[in-house]
Amino acid sequence: MVKVLFVCLGNICRSPMAEGLFLHHVAAAGLSDRIQVDSAGTGAWHVGEPADRRMQAAAAVHGVELVSRARQVRLSDFSEFDYIIPMDGSNLRDLEDLAREVGNSSARLVKMRHFDPKAPGADVPDPYYGGQRGFEQVFEMLDRATQGLLAHICVEQGWGG
Ligand code: 4NP
Repeated sequence: MVKVLFVCLGNICRSPMAEGLFLHHVAAAGLSDRIQVDSAGTGAWHVGEPADRRMQAAAAVHGVELVSRARQVRLSDFSEFDYIIPMDGSNLRDLEDLAREVGNSSARLVKMRHFDPKAPGADVPDPYYGGQRGFEQVFEMLDRATQGLLAHICVEQGWGG
């Protein structure tokens, strides 16, 4: 089982969208029994909340349902997950600080858009304080990046020839 955790600041916009899209691509590839997915936030403000209504709307247009409830990153995530995927540079730095606290972290920390062929390594911008168009743009970049991540995992695991 390969375990993937998507991380943003609040766990109500970007990482729930990444989780929902990745689950969608994993299911389409017939790999649901081999890949486990979750999302979390570096912050705790929205713990227990469903995804932001605007992000849910952007997802629903494309037939993707967001069902996750916000939780905060835990130190045990660093030993539980194979991949921890932050949305932006700030999330990455926060996770690197936590990984130092853990010491023996086995999880690989890689920014989400490392896997986006259109802008490798760029941030997924925080759409929270902007308009609906920002949520749609985040959807599009996460759609590409989650497909890129799945392709990467398949190559690494030797799945699909
Ligand atoms: P997210 O967006 O990190 O993509 O979930 C945010 C949601 C809420 C806040 C910040 C970012 N906030 O400050 O409440």
